[in-house]
Amino acid sequence: MNKAISAKLSLNLISKRFNVADFGCASGPNTFVAVQNVIDAVEDKYRYETGNNLPDNFEFQVFFNDYNKNDFNTLFQGLSPERSYYSAGVPCSFFERVLPKKSFHIGMINYAFHFMSKIPKGITDRDSPLWNKDMHCTGFNEAVKKAYLDQYSVDIKNLLDARAEELIPGGLFLIFGSCLRDGVKMSETFKGVGMDCIGASFNDLAQQGLIEQDKVDSFNTPLYIAEEGELRQIIKENGKFTIEAFEDIIHPNGEFPLDPKSLVASSKAIFGAFLSAQFGVDVMRKAFELVEVKAREEFSRFKNAKPGMQYLIVLRKN
Ligand SMILES: C[S@@+](CC[C@H](N)C(=O)[O-])C[C@H]1O[C@@H](n2cnc3c(N)ncnc32)[C@H](O)[C@@H]1O
Repeated sequence: MNKAISAKLSLNLISKRFNVADFGCASGPNTFVAVQNVIDAVEDKYRYETGNNLPDNFEFQVFFNDYNKNDFNTLFQGLSPERSYYSAGVPCSFFERVLPKKSFHIGMINYAFHFMSKIPKGITDRDSPLWNKDMHCTGFNEAVKKAYLDQYSVDIKNLLDARAEELIPGGLFLIFGSCLRDGVKMSETFKGVGMDCIGASFNDLAQQGLIEQDKVDSFNTPLYIAEEGELRQIIKENGKFTIEAFEDIIHPNGEFPLDPKSLVASSKAIFGAFLSAQFGVDVMRKAFELVEVKAREEFSRFKNAKPGMQYLIVLRKN
């Protein structure tokens, strides 16, 4: 990211103000680290190019975006008093315009690029050919995949159209997230195996009579983990941005720490809120106790699963 900011960002500092926007910021603290990293990289670039620090009257402003039901109180209470930027919350869906035209120099979206505006039509309808009874990935037949990809493509096009208007010319849009390598199915990855364990655990709870089977069968998430090629294609077809970098982020310890406790913690972080909304927090917690047992029993499946891909995409407005 630092290299991209150094090489690709056109700095126009006439206004002595630099705006950063984080889309899908949640309630912290990750967003604070992310925006600080961007600010540090901009300061480094200025220093490298001019031999000087940014002038004292130079100001950074950060826009924190998420849904209006996001916990912005917790977010603002977590802001460090020592921060070097002004801050504002901009509540709204990032699939729409969130800010006025030419509002920010660097925008980013971290681990929220796989969200969709809604679950595609038919997926939760028992009478539809698209009915997806299993959890998201396991029963992902071609028709279900196409319905998800079609909706995802529309949503991402709207997102990119909105950001293209809001971005200052010469600015960058950075996307950190997770995708599938081309040709790899979700069900073949750690996350897919994890979802299978979650689905099986909820089925167990239904069989014990703790929840209705119907509620389990109708559970789906508005998430689509795209293949790398699909992401490239959607961005290319949208035409508003050039892909300056599409980097595979390889962590020395692999994608996730491979032990059942960490796998459960990461699955809970990803799917916990959706599952609580459908089944309530107590059932969600109970199910994850079962997930941990299953993850221990079926650990070889996790070990043999194919890795997903963590990426950084750097986009520059055309
Ligand atoms: C997995 S969290 C990532 C949070 C943070 N960016 C991070 O990296 O830790 C995804 C966030 O995206 C937000 N989000 C999802 N869809 C959104 C939308 N349409 N508009 C705004 N925020 C959205 C969610 O509310 C959630 O806070």
